[in-house]
Amino acid sequence: MTDTNTTPSTETKEQIVTPWEVEASAGGVDYDKLVNQFGSTRISEELIARFERVTGKKAHHFLRRGIFFSHRDLKEILDHHEAGKKWYLYTGRGPSSGSLHFGHLLPFLFTKYLQDAFNVPLVVQMTNDEKFLWKGITIEESIEYTHNNVKDIIALGFDVQKTFIFSNLDYIQYLYPNAIKISRCVNLNQIKNIFGFQDSDAVGKFTFPPIQAAPCFPDSFPHIFDPKDPEIKAVRCLIPCAIDQDPYFRMTRDVAQRLGYNKPSLIHSKFFPALQGHNTKMSASDLNSAVYLSDTPQQVKDKIKKHAFSGGGATKEDQEKYGANLSVDITYEYLTFLLEDDDQLKEIAEKYSTGKMLTGEIKQILIDIMVKIIARHKEARSKVTDEVLNSFMSIRKLNF
Ligand code: TRP
Repeated sequence: MTDTNTTPSTETKEQIVTPWEVEASAGGVDYDKLVNQFGSTRISEELIARFERVTGKKAHHFLRRGIFFSHRDLKEILDHHEAGKKWYLYTGRGPSSGSLHFGHLLPFLFTKYLQDAFNVPLVVQMTNDEKFLWKGITIEESIEYTHNNVKDIIALGFDVQKTFIFSNLDYIQYLYPNAIKISRCVNLNQIKNIFGFQDSDAVGKFTFPPIQAAPCFPDSFPHIFDPKDPEIKAVRCLIPCAIDQDPYFRMTRDVAQRLGYNKPSLIHSKFFPALQGHNTKMSASDLNSAVYLSDTPQQVKDKIKKHAFSGGGATKEDQEKYGANLSVDITYEYLTFLLEDDDQLKEIAEKYSTGKMLTGEIKQILIDIMVKIIARHKEARSKVTDEVLNSFMSIRKLNF
């Protein structure tokens, strides 16, 4: 059975989730439905417990709170790790704006946690080619965005000894051999089915997916994995990503074994919802939908106060009487992402849902946290010089 044949379409009437579009009904994305459609597996309590045993650490709050909630072949990675065999992390970013927003942070923060917990190499793909094709930007803009986004990513604290960041426009010669091998295994019919491309779409879109697939195979990185190692193709890959990226990797998994590799494993996150509500994700294309790591404290305050969809009572009296509906409240949801302290979160949930806390108060808590994260990030980013950036992006051996 293949991954793609079980999931001919990622689209239903009420819910559209593709790598380029997330649209759900007002109740938010139905993740159970998505797991069924995509054919991935929910992360069970048991798997989280195993994670804790293997890493010897408490699971990240993204795992405990179901923010990373779905996977493919995660057990295989843990088995492989316990057997002392080689594997690596692969994630990426399509540089479509000058600065990252909080939604972009999720996969990278989680990837950093995985890198620290397992001490494995990480490759990060910057798909400036993808954004050129999809976003109507110039090549020069895509390069400029890449430069700025890579600095943001480095500022999150990745270890230069174990991290290789590459832009497709620069690194393509190393990806190309695997990309064409992959592209020979996938026909037009399949590409259209998996990604929903139309005949009127630019031909570049049809040929892009194998380029995002190529880093799943270890010999795309001869400076990291020794090409003379007879076992090189057995090196496994784990991809932390938002679930909208799954189509790329369903395609990759379908061809992997035919080409002599293991199927890449995946761990999927939910989306960081837009300020306006659960029916879509933070988007770089709508400035008011997202809080950026470059926003000033005043901008953060204005955005949260004005735009964060509230599940609280319409008036102070209503809120005190009925409490807030946490399941639609964006401020509360953001806190589940950003506030690590379980006890504090529980206390806020209790008070806010029963009307002992007002919307203005919970919003202030979130504003303070976001402003603090941004300040810390600005400080860290100011240290990421062009020289530091070049050291992460240079083709070199890694230590792990
Ligand atoms: N397509 C992704 C984006 O638009 C970027 C990307 C490339 C990626 N390779 C990846 C994301 C691997 C997650 C995992 O942001």
